[in-house]
Amino acid sequence: MKVLDDLDVRDKRVLVRVDFNVPLEQGRVADDTRIRAALATIERLRERRARLILVSHLGRPEGRDPALSLRPVADRLAELTGADVTFTTAVVGPEAAALADKLAPGDVLVLENVRYQPGETTNDPALAAALAALADVYVNDAFGAAHRAHASTEAVAHLLPAAAGVLLAHEVDVLEALLSDPARPLVAVIGGAKVSDKIGVLHTFLQRADSVLIGGAMCFPFFAAQGHATGASLCHEEDLEPARQLLAQRGDRLELPVDLVIGDRLGATAEVRQIEGVEVPDEWMGLDIGERTVARYVERISAAGTVFWNGPMGAFELDPFAGGTRAVAEAIAGAACVTVVGGGDSAAALARFGLADQVTHLSTGGGAALELLEGHPLPGVEALRG
Ligand code: 3PG
Repeated sequence: MKVLDDLDVRDKRVLVRVDFNVPLEQGRVADDTRIRAALATIERLRERRARLILVSHLGRPEGRDPALSLRPVADRLAELTGADVTFTTAVVGPEAAALADKLAPGDVLVLENVRYQPGETTNDPALAAALAALADVYVNDAFGAAHRAHASTEAVAHLLPAAAGVLLAHEVDVLEALLSDPARPLVAVIGGAKVSDKIGVLHTFLQRADSVLIGGAMCFPFFAAQGHATGASLCHEEDLEPARQLLAQRGDRLELPVDLVIGDRLGATAEVRQIEGVEVPDEWMGLDIGERTVARYVERISAAGTVFWNGPMGAFELDPFAGGTRAVAEAIAGAACVTVVGGGDSAAALARFGLADQVTHLSTGGGAALELLEGHPLPGVEALRG
């Protein structure tokens, strides 16, 4: 895969695909993590006198939904960089081209949400050609969107000299190293609501990790398969058979909770009990891992050479059920080993507990990270290898 330093960008117009798919609240950026994650590439290009044209999606608009305009993101980028940042309501076409041609070295043009164009998600060659027409070279730094074969992530990469940005290259390096050469023991902590959402990553780590610690509601299909009572816990019928198979194939590496925190409902004011064992009474829900489980998982994490974490241990957004996720997050943040955290809910949990900067690598791509770890080629990355 070509990287930024392989490209001659001096004085060139550089089309940079970034993942600025960030949460907005009342017209402002509510969390700028993904914008800051792209700054290394943006700054390196500006230092080299490149003229930057940034392209990103935001949300999944149906047509030109004004609530999903990238204008607030451009405003935040201007604050973070101090650069001369211009925003255009065009995605491609003469207005965008005229602005791109006027850029001085180090200046930045932010195009409007590329998903306003229907050809983006269909990987339309005509849209890719229109994007390519704006620039001399292409850099993809949008790791979070690398699992999408879209016009701005895939087709355009074949039309210009192309390379990976600093963030995308780093994400791929870290996640590939996790699979190829991890310091051992490799401990995977996998949580979340559904086994079926994580089936691929469970297979990966049950083959490669020394232990796989399970938390979140996804433990209930495993318990049901073992004949335990799950009460009113979230337990998807379609997860039972995959859980049964995983237990039969790799039950030796799979560690399930040994005790639970249960509630009479999912709510901040629920009645809460800590139970010995994992038999959930009728009308009660398992909503967090219990104290003995926490102690076991923390011990495993502390003795690990590498930890990968994806998915919360319980309903961590509610204080009564946040203890397991918090303890695991703190153990991972405090571990002296390599710690890699997949995006999405685990990133939100780290942020909630103020630990986001205390892991070795916090991926900016939830879906993309999981797909890479499941062994699926990422179209946005493959296009840069050609
Ligand atoms: C994400 O937030 O996971 C990426 O930006 C991809 O967004 P998408 O799932 O809408 O393609």
